[in-house]
Amino acid sequence: MKEDLISIQCLDTQGISDIFSLTEKVKADKAKYTDAMKGRSIGLIFQKPSNRTRVSFEIGMIQLGGNALYLGPDEIDMGGRESVKDVACVLSRYLDGIVARTYNHDDIKELALYADVPVINGLSDRAHPCQALTDIFTIKEKLGTFKGITLAYIGDGNNVLNSLMMTAAKVGLDMKIASPKGYEPEEDIVDIAKKFAKESGAKIWISNDPNAAAKGADVIYTDVWVSMGQEKDAKKRLKAFKGFQINDNLMKLAKKGCLVMHCLPANRGQEITDSVIDSKNSVVYDQAENRMHVQKAILLKLLQ
Ligand code: CP
Ligand code: NVA
Repeated sequence: MKEDLISIQCLDTQGISDIFSLTEKVKADKAKYTDAMKGRSIGLIFQKPSNRTRVSFEIGMIQLGGNALYLGPDEIDMGGRESVKDVACVLSRYLDGIVARTYNHDDIKELALYADVPVINGLSDRAHPCQALTDIFTIKEKLGTFKGITLAYIGDGNNVLNSLMMTAAKVGLDMKIASPKGYEPEEDIVDIAKKFAKESGAKIWISNDPNAAAKGADVIYTDVWVSMGQEKDAKKRLKAFKGFQINDNLMKLAKKGCLVMHCLPANRGQEITDSVIDSKNSVVYDQAENRMHVQKAILLKLLQ
């Protein structure tokens, strides 16, 4: 049966650990995998802009010996020119896998329902599983363990946090989350993450206090305050998120050497200052590089 990656719930802890082991191998010996996807093709249906996700999947597939075709908003207009079902059924006849970036999470679910080939979520309004797998892989790579480590996420309770929280909970990494009132992660997602945390022994702590979240943290993570598709609410959001910026004062509360993470793109001077994102403890470019290695591992796992 085909395996999709719609959200982190599609993976059990063994599946996550398999992706991480494969990522280490792919990263250590790029040359060994140059024919691994020979003769295979993926399509990238993107309704929103992208740098990291598009380039890492497209070039990653080429580095594995396969082909990748970018299908931007003007190409197939999924759900407009053609129904999601028809796109899924037709592309399944041409491709070996589909990566999709949509506004609506349900569109990716529908795509996966009707496609005969694996569907990978390259970001929806609800989830960003490829990003979260990369983030947690990067933490493991940098700190060597999840035991006794606290990841503080300070910012919007959005797609990136949803997937990060679920992945952390699955691998047993403690999280402290601080979002402004009204911008906390959705309750149903928190409930799922808490269920995973119960199984792994991880702790999830949610508040509206950025200072308390930063206190004693080993890693501080943030994302933009206005995600793609939320531009009309920008003014209201920027006001609500005042006080949630990752700056030098906030960093003083964290452990010495605390890592700084951001999925990027960043709005420098808004959710994070230049001084923090450019500091020696910032791992944002290693995180971005790891997108490539993790994406290759995901393709190898799902398409082989
Ligand atoms: N982090 C991330 O997904 O970046 P892009 O939007 O550039 O793909
Ligand atoms: N939360 C951001 C993440 C971008 C990678 C967005 O959805 O725009």
